[in-house]
Amino acid sequence: MSSDSSAKIETVLQEERVFNPSDETINRASIKGFAQYQKMVNSAKSDPQKFWGEAALEGLHWFKPFNTVLDWTDPPFARWFDGGKTNVSYNCLDRHVKQGKGEKIAIIWEGEPGEVRKITYKQLLEQVCRTANALKEIGIKKGDLVALYMPMVPEAAVAMLACARIGAPHSVVFGGFSSEALRDRINDGQAKAIITADGGFRKDKIISLKNAVDSALSGNSCPSVESVLVVKRTSESISFSPGRDYWWHELVPAQSIDCPAEEMDSEDRLFVLYTSGSTGKPKGVVHTTAGYNLWAHMTFQWIFDVREEEIYWCTADVGWITGHSYIVYGPLSNGSTTVMYEGVPRPSNPGAFWDLIERHKINIFYTAPTAIRAFMKSGRDIPDKYNLKSLRLLGTVGEPINPEAWIWYRDVIGGNSCPIVDTWWQTETGGVMISPLPGAIPTKPGSATLPLPGIEAEIVNAEGKSVDVNQGGYLVIKHPWPGMMRTVHGNPQRFRESYWEYLPPINGSLVYFAGDGARRDKDGYFWIMGRVDDVINVSGHRLGTMEIESALVSHNSVAEAAVVGKPDDIKGEAIVAFVTLESGANHNEKLLTDLKVHVSTEIGAIARPDEIRFTNSLPKTRSGKIMRRLLRALAAGEEVKGDTSTLEDRNVLDELRK
Ligand code: WTA
Repeated sequence: MSSDSSAKIETVLQEERVFNPSDETINRASIKGFAQYQKMVNSAKSDPQKFWGEAALEGLHWFKPFNTVLDWTDPPFARWFDGGKTNVSYNCLDRHVKQGKGEKIAIIWEGEPGEVRKITYKQLLEQVCRTANALKEIGIKKGDLVALYMPMVPEAAVAMLACARIGAPHSVVFGGFSSEALRDRINDGQAKAIITADGGFRKDKIISLKNAVDSALSGNSCPSVESVLVVKRTSESISFSPGRDYWWHELVPAQSIDCPAEEMDSEDRLFVLYTSGSTGKPKGVVHTTAGYNLWAHMTFQWIFDVREEEIYWCTADVGWITGHSYIVYGPLSNGSTTVMYEGVPRPSNPGAFWDLIERHKINIFYTAPTAIRAFMKSGRDIPDKYNLKSLRLLGTVGEPINPEAWIWYRDVIGGNSCPIVDTWWQTETGGVMISPLPGAIPTKPGSATLPLPGIEAEIVNAEGKSVDVNQGGYLVIKHPWPGMMRTVHGNPQRFRESYWEYLPPINGSLVYFAGDGARRDKDGYFWIMGRVDDVINVSGHRLGTMEIESALVSHNSVAEAAVVGKPDDIKGEAIVAFVTLESGANHNEKLLTDLKVHVSTEIGAIARPDEIRFTNSLPKTRSGKIMRRLLRALAAGEEVKGDTSTLEDRNVLDELRK
């Protein structure tokens, strides 16, 4: 970075800059100007039933219209659009083909080695129907859970839509998770089939997925699984278990293209997606048909405001909620062209993203702050080599974005003219909750700005009382919304306790607690401060400290472990583990490496600790609770401040400081 731009960044941090939507942006937007946004906010607030009811009739196709909009008689278990019948795959495919858009490109896919595939809506519909018939042939019925463990290939989207078509909920497991993590998720959901590939390409290497599936299933450890459908991607040699394993290219193309979409109840499950919480194992977040579909549909329309001829690209993986809502369901439900890229920027191709934008003339680009910070570090020379003039709108998701990165993004990638939408949301919320609407809301670098219409967000203290302007507190949502998660798979009590009973009711009503801390400025803008629970956010990936601790403790040499996040310039947070060893174990370099590998094997490479510190004991309160606050300060190299009087053994701190 030049000294000139760093001087600029400092001024940005000191002053509160506001970027108003340009006239051009306002003129082309569907929601024009702040007044129109305010009007929507008011109508959603004064009559939510009418607001959401009209939105659902307009946004989705119904085989049979619903009787009620929201049933909130048994909070926190919401029912939306009861009595209605719809199908997400129909909404994403058939209705566009019926409206004469069959020849429009639905998916532009690029593999890491560089192959390009363009799939029209008509072709996608046919592929989805064939795949749905193939699933039926291997015994999948409405209500059966299907696990997906896929690289970023079009078949991943096809498989999701095929499941939705026949009413079999999917459970996508990120391809970077280990076979152990895959096994846990398969067993928790009792998946009946797995859709996978031989492997995928990532950073010029092959990720062997089928091998991982084989180890997850070995020794009958996943008795619910009856069949495995395998896409050929890398052509590496894999083992095949006859009667259980099927090649996609043999089973799918042989099927008929006729497969009418199942008429699903609004509240039938669409998918389960596992995410980390502060305690216990990852939770299976359950989303249902109509409400989720509507939320993905509306938020995509409001925020990205994609025009008929425009091309949109979200760089997430389909293994995360961002991939579900904003690569697959949101864009396709709106009949947009969505780009799917298998690769990531890598040493052999550091300009990969910009090259894609130039070649496919991408208009809307949605990525994570981690990626932006990494690009910023490698310098503007790389993006400057490419023609990025097609870009019209930029988005970020997954972590707080620091103002320096925001300004760099706007300046270097957006040529100082593209609005930036910093979108705050979660796996649990189904879609975006707080974000600028590009033609309506002035932006401030580092702020997700204001809640979308119908979303009543607030910041409260532990007693549930609103806090003052600029005071930090807990971010809560006060009214149910269509895209909200319905429950934790198999554990409704956990759903109630972790999200709706963590904070006291406000005016007698339960409120949703997101797990994030935030503040609001004088204009009511939200500034997300990060997780306030034991969840860490590494490069936009959510990890529970407990999960990593359990992985460490499952190693023979480890007695106890405490994991904390430490600020990291690129990744947002890095993982630091404090570990005590079983007597007789030697804390040497080899064990250090072994432990890192062990965590990768147990969870996946994303959970591998950046740093492991051996210690004789961990700082605990007299009641035996680990004082993470102290460990966080130590990990960050800060002075340990605040009360340490509850420490059971004061000497522990001195030892750790060494
Ligand atoms: C964080 C990802 C600040 C937050 C869609 C949240 C953000 C968690 C933002 C959810 C943002 C997401 N600004 N923080 N714009 N977006 N987060 O479930 O801590 O993988 O609770 O969903 O990411 O992560 P998840």
